[in-house]
Amino acid sequence: MSDKEIDEPTGVETTGHEWDGIKELNNPLPRWWLILLWISVVWSVVYWVLMPSWPGITGYFAGVRNHSERANVDAALAALDAERSVQMQQLLTVASIDEVEADPQLLQFAMNAGASLFGDNCATCHGAGGQGFRGYPSLVDDAWLWGGTLDDIEKTLHHGIRSTHPDTRISIMLAYGETGAFSADQIDDLVEYVVHISGRDADMEAVARAETNFVQLCAACHGADGKGDQLQGSPDLTDAIWLYGGERKDLQETLYYGRAGVMPHWTERLTDEQITALAVYVHSLGGGE
Ligand code: HEC
Ligand code: HEC
Repeated sequence: MSDKEIDEPTGVETTGHEWDGIKELNNPLPRWWLILLWISVVWSVVYWVLMPSWPGITGYFAGVRNHSERANVDAALAALDAERSVQMQQLLTVASIDEVEADPQLLQFAMNAGASLFGDNCATCHGAGGQGFRGYPSLVDDAWLWGGTLDDIEKTLHHGIRSTHPDTRISIMLAYGETGAFSADQIDDLVEYVVHISGRDADMEAVARAETNFVQLCAACHGADGKGDQLQGSPDLTDAIWLYGGERKDLQETLYYGRAGVMPHWTERLTDEQITALAVYVHSLGGGE
């Protein structure tokens, strides 16, 4: 039995469906919509034939055009590798930053490769732009713990700092409080001393009391003038750049507990060429020597 009827006001037949007294009109689909539908249907058949489509038991129908996105990517990568390997090889032989800088193409290549390696491997600790964080040195300034020549940077990357590499760079900022080497008062005096040599107002009596201790102990690593020593990775204490903060409470903590930042070594994870590219990139970030 059909409940179809003609709707009075519109003159259109209803579908016979009715909900709470509201009836559905049986309007035809718009013509433009039908045309689009049929174009899509025809297009999908053409597409099935031309492009990879039907799954099979051991593989799939590859399509008349035998198109493969994966093969395209492989081919593009192979071409890129071939192009790069020449320059990668060239990087292996460079002896100094001047040599790289004298060859604009090589420099551009090293910078691009270095920037992308930096983003993948280094940015987590040193920041996306190499700006650093507390405990993780900025690589964009002129202050270097271990030196900022291309050679120095390469060595830092190859061996790391306090890393698991047998030739790691290593140096010790002792825990002078924890080990009982100094009393709390003596540490406070030394803090004033460091505040003083970094050019800020300090309690000069405390500075005078700390002088002997500084000269006898700290100077061995930080230098008599406190300007640091790159051979030992000991930071300059007279500049405004602090790895662990320069406020009195930061300095107290440094002196009481010691500090030992760890920079992993990269010999196992990166190739020599990649390390040179990274060193060129880091060198260019601002403060290369
Ligand atoms: C797990 C964290 C970490 C990662 C990852 C890391 N670093 Fe470091 N890096 C450090 C720390 C910490 C130091 C400082 C060590 C110290 O206190 O002497 C450092 C020091 C350095 C130095 C020496 C700076 C100076 O003043 O002499 C360079 C150069 C450097 N990193 C470059 C890199 C590059 C390039 C990468 C990526 C391949 C990288 N680092 C990845 C933590 C990291
Ligand atoms: C055996 C070498 C050595 C001696 C002795 C030494 N230091 Fe250090 N000091 C270091 C090293 C290395 C670091 C950096 C540690 C790191 O990178 O993690 C450091 C870091 C510091 C820092 C932190 C600097 C910053 O940028 O945050 C201060 C402050 C400091 N030392 C003060 C002193 C004072 C004061 C003395 C004397 C009581 C002293 N040090 C003795 C090697 C030494």
